[in-house]
Amino acid sequence: MTNYNPFTLEGKTILVTGASSGIGRATAVECAKLGSRVVISGRNKERLAETFSQLEGEGHLQIVADLSKQEDIDNLVAQTPALNGLVNNAGQNSLVTVNYIERTDLDTIYQTNVFAPILLTKGLLKKRKILKGGSIVFTSSIASSLSTPGSCLYASTKASVSSFMRSCAVELGGRGIRSNAVLPGTIETSLGIGNVPDELFAKDKDLYALKRYGKPEEVAYAIIYLLSDAAAWVTGTSLVIDGGRLLK
Ligand SMILES: NC(=O)c1ccc[n+]([C@@H]2O[C@H](COP(=O)([O-])OP(=O)(O)OC[C@H]3O[C@@H](n4cnc5c(N)ncnc54)[C@H](OP(=O)(O)O)[C@@H]3O)[C@@H](O)[C@H]2O)c1
Repeated sequence: MTNYNPFTLEGKTILVTGASSGIGRATAVECAKLGSRVVISGRNKERLAETFSQLEGEGHLQIVADLSKQEDIDNLVAQTPALNGLVNNAGQNSLVTVNYIERTDLDTIYQTNVFAPILLTKGLLKKRKILKGGSIVFTSSIASSLSTPGSCLYASTKASVSSFMRSCAVELGGRGIRSNAVLPGTIETSLGIGNVPDELFAKDKDLYALKRYGKPEEVAYAIIYLLSDAAAWVTGTSLVIDGGRLLK
């Protein structure tokens, strides 16, 4: 009775991208605590190693990869063992208004936020590295449906990810592979708030029913639910974790 845990990740192998900081780091650390073997990836070698040092248990792997480069995606696919879970989490922000968009802005953000999760997922599937019963989780954002000034490109990448997630659910369901997304509101990470002084966020936080931004772990727990067998009949879902931001 005391060991009862329908959310356990015991016996699973899970790849988390963007694990060198923020939501990805918290997800990797919590997945390991719940018993999974974790493969972590990120660009920054030192910060990835810092995450690695925080992982409980044994057998974990760390693989440095810049997912805006096809050769790094191919290398990550080649080095990754068979998976029960894939967390497509790596992402970047972009702050530009419609009138000032340059083609290079599109290239940069789409390479990491859209091309990378699509091509990594495809690469792993082609090599049969996502096992039957596997779970793919995409880190989308409430920005996929909530428009704020300057977020046009970032928001469009997340809408794209959410749409791709639903197509995966339809196409892969027959193989017993699930596909879902988490949609966080603002989370206290370098991408979410950076080094901006807290007082500048007061008005924005007021738009949240819970009157605060989220913590990386609070997204990690939702990702873990979707990775676990507790979510065995959940696919194609967008799970909003936003402290009530979309209510206003
Ligand atoms: N924080 C928020 O408010 C918020 C809200 C909604 C959704 N999200 C989404 O959550 C995800 C994680 O963001 P975060 O808030 O945890 O931000 P973060 O702390 O800045 O982490 C971003 C992660 O993505 C990795 N990354 C960025 N570009 C990459 C590339 N080209 N190749 C490989 N890895 C790359 C970074 O690796 P390196 O640092 O090693 O370069 C880092 O590990 C993103 O997809 C983001 O869009 C965040």
